[in-house]
Amino acid sequence: MTLPTVLVADDDRSIRTVLTQALGRAGYQVRSTGNAATLWRWVEDGEGDLVITDVVMPDENGLDLIPRIKRVRPDLRVIVMSAQSTLMTAVKAAQRGAFEYLPKPFDLQELLSVVGRALATPSTPVISAPEARDSEERLPLIGRSASMQEIYRTIARLTTADLTVMINGESGTGKELVARALHDYGKRRGGPFVAINMAAIPRELIESELFGHERGAFTGATNRSQGRFEQANGGTLFLDEIGDMPPEAQTRLLRVLQEGEFTSVGGRQPIKANVRIIAATHRDLRTAIRQGAFREDLFYRLNVVPIRLPPLRERVEDIALLARHFLDRARDDGLPNKNLDQGAIDRLKQHPWPGNVRELENLMRRLAALCPEETIGADAVAIELTDAEPPAESGPVQPMGPDTLSSAVERHIKEFLRTHNDGVNATDIYDKIISEVERPLIKLTLAATRGNQIKAAAMLGLNRNTLRKKIRDLEIPVVRGLM
Ligand SMILES: Nc1ncnc2c1ncn2[C@@H]1O[C@H](COP(=O)(O)OP(=O)(O)OP(=O)(O)O)[C@@H](O)[C@H]1O
Ligand SMILES: [Mg+2]
Repeated sequence: MTLPTVLVADDDRSIRTVLTQALGRAGYQVRSTGNAATLWRWVEDGEGDLVITDVVMPDENGLDLIPRIKRVRPDLRVIVMSAQSTLMTAVKAAQRGAFEYLPKPFDLQELLSVVGRALATPSTPVISAPEARDSEERLPLIGRSASMQEIYRTIARLTTADLTVMINGESGTGKELVARALHDYGKRRGGPFVAINMAAIPRELIESELFGHERGAFTGATNRSQGRFEQANGGTLFLDEIGDMPPEAQTRLLRVLQEGEFTSVGGRQPIKANVRIIAATHRDLRTAIRQGAFREDLFYRLNVVPIRLPPLRERVEDIALLARHFLDRARDDGLPNKNLDQGAIDRLKQHPWPGNVRELENLMRRLAALCPEETIGADAVAIELTDAEPPAESGPVQPMGPDTLSSAVERHIKEFLRTHNDGVNATDIYDKIISEVERPLIKLTLAATRGNQIKAAAMLGLNRNTLRKKIRDLEIPVVRGLM
């Protein structure tokens, strides 16, 4: 039996060497080249069982080569790797029929597992999706951190598959932007994108908003009205803040997803549901399930492809790029052109960004409008960041007056009681509120001790076993040595 041959094209000699050695050790034959022309000649000559190609090469772009390769050898798998990883490279690679896309630097182990899969999976014909229309300049999503690249890869994979997606992330992390990108680069881009925010609609109106109502279905329903499901026909329905959906609506939604059809409020005629669902929430739905506030079966229906958007403080390397992007946008909107000096960027990186990308966007607009100098320095940033908090490393005890914390808690409890007003059968409000306070307290103390539970227990004045139990009960992820 002959060994499978992998053709490698990359103008970076060191990458060729690393790949040749790793693939060789894994039992493959390797031929490598630094240019696209040689790779193309090998492909035309019928050589190789798999291609691994870089994007930017001196003579031709690796992405442009894929459709040509697919024309002469439709079964030949192509793996694309790029240091230039933006959402567009990931999406283009997928649309042109690449088997997989790996942003550089990649993990050799992952590369080998992709190679193994590529050679093992039976070939299916590529239905090449029409090309994305956005140009490189107008990227919808900014950021090149490893976590964002993982998100680009997921979006790219979903350009050809119409799967249900659940986006989870703190407020302002870009959930809606990702939902739109999934629609804009997906199969249904010709159809409508309809969004509905569960947190913004009075709970008694949610079902009629979703499914529509017949004339006279309830007091005030003077006309028949189309629901969002019907409006989104042939397109995408974005269920924003799904964690805030009331229980009755959850039950109804689950039934619609199971049966593929719905009836309007007060209606009898079933209507076929032809929508792709993308849901989003900032809540931890697993906790909500445990607390009986979210249906587990609905969760599994929606959580087909989970996407977790990282908070901005977990990807500080994107801050400079995002800040530049928002200053450019402000300039396009007629505000004066501004730059940031290194001190300003460093200051931005220290901020914990509780409001995430949206907070950064607002700050940049404010600075563009208010800062008198063309180059923004650290001081101007510091002044605008009035609510600046010290970085987590300086200790878990934030210098907050006791009334600041308790007034915040008071606000939250009021809100909680307001939204659970009709939940007369609530029996565990005490535990719910306490766990809301305990979770961030323990999480941040662990972050400050870099995951060292013994130190964290000492700082908190808790018994080690008690801390361990709380970590388990509150499902706090424990990552040692990180952050
Ligand atoms: N990666 C990104 N690149 C460029 N802009 C971004 C990015 N992420 C978020 N934004 C911008 O930040 C703002 C907030 O994003 P978005 O509304 O999508 O967040 P969200 O997670 O839906 O927030 P919320 O939970 O408050 O609804 C928007 O103006 C969006 O354009
Ligand atoms: Mg949103």
